[in-house]
Amino acid sequence: MSILSYVLPKGPSGFGYGSTAEQVTAGLSLAGKTVLVTGCNSGLGFETMRVLALRGARVIGTARTEAKAREAADKVQGTVVPVACELSDPASVAACVKTVSALEYKLDAIIANAGIMMLPKCETAHGYELQFFTNHVGHFLLVTGLLDRLTDDGRVVMLSSEGHKAAPKAGIEFDNLDGKRGYGDLKMYGQSKMANVLFAKELARRFAGTRRTANAVHPGVINTNLGRHLNPIVRVVSERVGPLLMKSIEEGAATQVYVATNPALADVSGKYFASCNVAKSRADADDPQLARKLWEVSERIAAEVTAAR
Ligand SMILES: NC(=O)c1ccc[n+]([C@@H]2O[C@H](COP(=O)([O-])OP(=O)(O)OC[C@H]3O[C@@H](n4cnc5c(N)ncnc54)[C@H](OP(=O)(O)O)[C@@H]3O)[C@@H](O)[C@H]2O)c1
Repeated sequence: MSILSYVLPKGPSGFGYGSTAEQVTAGLSLAGKTVLVTGCNSGLGFETMRVLALRGARVIGTARTEAKAREAADKVQGTVVPVACELSDPASVAACVKTVSALEYKLDAIIANAGIMMLPKCETAHGYELQFFTNHVGHFLLVTGLLDRLTDDGRVVMLSSEGHKAAPKAGIEFDNLDGKRGYGDLKMYGQSKMANVLFAKELARRFAGTRRTANAVHPGVINTNLGRHLNPIVRVVSERVGPLLMKSIEEGAATQVYVATNPALADVSGKYFASCNVAKSRADADDPQLARKLWEVSERIAAEVTAAR
């Protein structure tokens, strides 16, 4: 727990900065529910899986390889089905969709948690900048591929970040999706996280008239493996000040677990949450035209990378 956990007040939901995933699910039985969590082997994904399973949910935990997912699953109590899903590899995502679709149970929630941050140099996958491809395109393929396995009141939770506010001025640089016309580590991470918010909001619009919901969350700032590409000085400083100012992993997993499971949010869709309360995203993350354009471009990319397999 950081100092901020004691100082910052709780929000209207009754939860706040210092709430943990266990606290936001206290007294809640998730028996009979199935939740898919990507990136289950590390940081927030692992804690999310652990707490959901603790509350009785069946968790489909994905990691880059089945071995990684299985190793993580073996560390938690409850029912976890480990599945491989390497988000930068469309064939792996398609295999994950196939495996999950073949299971007899439907999904009550999908938590698109996995991500990479601030790669020092521009790397690409299938011709697209790697953070955009992993964080957005991989999840676009996964979530849209699993929509017919989502229950009628199923929830999609996209892990974004306050970092989406560092996205380029255009929100998404559609003419620079390979990063060749200019690369900035934070800018491109921001773009991928902006894509996560836009995707959640567009999905919410597509869910209108149904009981399904889609939301995006900022988990807080937490010391996890996500910082592996940060400059070593920044890493050391964040490791030192982290315990004072940053959220713990238990606190960091709270918002996604809350949004995926809290009964009070059954009708809440198209929102951006931070510290378990509705928060303000960058103004253009609310632009429906930008979100629709991203959806259409993502569909084209999905068709292109699927045809190339
Ligand atoms: N930590 C923060 O301060 C913070 C702040 C804002 C937003 N977030 C968001 O929270 C989410 C979880 O981050 P975290 O802090 O828990 O980081 P983490 O500990 O590094 O976990 C990230 C997870 O994503 C997986 N992953 C990375 N690339 C992948 C790929 N190509 N295919 C499949 N899985 C992949 C990682 O697998 P490997 O272990 O195999 O690499 C790991 O399981 C991310 O979306 C991040 O953007 C975090």
